[in-house]
Amino acid sequence: MRIQIINGPNLNLLGVREPAIYGKRAWEDYLKDLRQRYPNVRIDYYQSNLEGDIINKIQEVGFDRDGIVLNAGAYTHTSVAILDAIKSVNTPTIEVHISNVHQREEFRHHSMISQGCMGVICGFGLDSYRLAIEAILTKSETEE
Ligand code: DQA
Repeated sequence: MRIQIINGPNLNLLGVREPAIYGKRAWEDYLKDLRQRYPNVRIDYYQSNLEGDIINKIQEVGFDRDGIVLNAGAYTHTSVAILDAIKSVNTPTIEVHISNVHQREEFRHHSMISQGCMGVICGFGLDSYRLAIEAILTKSETEE
């Protein structure tokens, strides 16, 4: 079992960036816990602030992972190109958000990428990533 997490723009600043919304915990610390929690899952991690890099990563991993957990950050609300990348590969993608985007500004209510995703998890803080991994594991168990 191999899962790819991809974080988009400004998510390299987790722990520092708007802590009232995104929390105070550093990403590396959370990722360490996540990997310990799932010793049988290889969890690969990639972050970029650039749209094209995110697309390149989706294309690179999108044919040989069991799932992609994608927080596309603000590109969620704008990027047809990321939607197309998600639809171009055969690995299922789960869209995640740390905050509950539906409780925030109206421009965050619409996602360009949900249409291509297996599902969407938002509003559970960093735990949104674990819930996405659980969804991938549950899906693969029921398919076996
Ligand atoms: C986010 C929500 C987006 O609207 C925002 O642009 C982000 C983070 C979240 O995880 O809550 O960068 O994806």
